[in-house]
Amino acid sequence: MPRRHKIALIGAGNIGGELAALAAREELGDVVLFDIPDKEGLAKGKALDLEQNGAVLGYDAKISGTSNWDHCAGADVVVVTAGVPRKPGMSRDDLLSINLKIIRNVAENIKAKCPEAFVIVISNPLDAMVYEMKKVTGFPKARVVGMAGVLDSARLQLFLARELGTSVKDVRAMVLGGHGDTMVPVTSYCTVNGVPVKQLMSKEKLDAIVTRTAGGGGEIVKLMGTSAYYAPASAAISMARAFLRDEKRLLPAAAFCEGEYGYRDLYIGVPVVIGAGGVEKIVTIELSAEEKANLDKSAAAVRELLEAGAKL
Ligand code: APR
Repeated sequence: MPRRHKIALIGAGNIGGELAALAAREELGDVVLFDIPDKEGLAKGKALDLEQNGAVLGYDAKISGTSNWDHCAGADVVVVTAGVPRKPGMSRDDLLSINLKIIRNVAENIKAKCPEAFVIVISNPLDAMVYEMKKVTGFPKARVVGMAGVLDSARLQLFLARELGTSVKDVRAMVLGGHGDTMVPVTSYCTVNGVPVKQLMSKEKLDAIVTRTAGGGGEIVKLMGTSAYYAPASAAISMARAFLRDEKRLLPAAAFCEGEYGYRDLYIGVPVVIGAGGVEKIVTIELSAEEKANLDKSAAAVRELLEAGAKL
């Protein structure tokens, strides 16, 4: 008998709420919004509001709010936003000690209650959080992935489209590396319907866009006092959809490397294929010497973050 998919969202805050709204609207499955006991009312309230929204818009999805892990049992997909978001002036790395404790607790519960789930981590600092998730759950690398590259690439895509006066739909962009200031916008793979952007704009303009992309998260934190949530939620939903519908999408995501690009025992943003098998493969692409050197720098920063995390 076919059954509806179940999507557990751990953290019912800004991103969690938007994730629930998108998952329900796309009828990806039934949604459980989980948060800590102090925020159970928030989780339940958002769930009820979104069920009522379904009556207006006409979607079929059961949405519930809870602080009881039993209600997440058997989820097909778990998306983790649990943690504290960045405040102005705080780097993602400042969040490390607070969010590491939270992610360890969340990972233990996912291991116990959702042993078959595909887990997408969004909490920051992303590369350290997703590494910890895999370590604590012991899940295979195909089932634990971090969301960063789709979001960072979307930012780059938008800035390129605005500069060129073209539709965002025609711009393809790829951002690899860690989800921090060292991220690597791979401009050699940025095109407008196949036309390399390097042919369409000056190096100065492109460099400025690359710099703005790397600080894209911070730009929003500065404006509204907390981190972005619409685009991060959409990015994670595109990954969840790729898994649930076996789309085999090639997307940049934080994946566990075991020798790819010369990195080992590390989560870092690389191109992957996501389908019913989760992260089905890491795709190795050619990089210029400069891009590879930048990726190495980013990997070194992620490694430093992991070493700091290991001491906490
Ligand atoms: N289990 C479940 N939820 C938790 C836990 C926990 N142990 N600890 C905290 N939370 C919840 C908070 O109660 C809060 O409702 O996580 C939620 C986070 O929501 P917001 O504060 O609104 O943060 P949000 O903007 O959604 O970002 C979440 O994603 O992009 C990253 O940097 C961002 O790390 C942050 C995360």
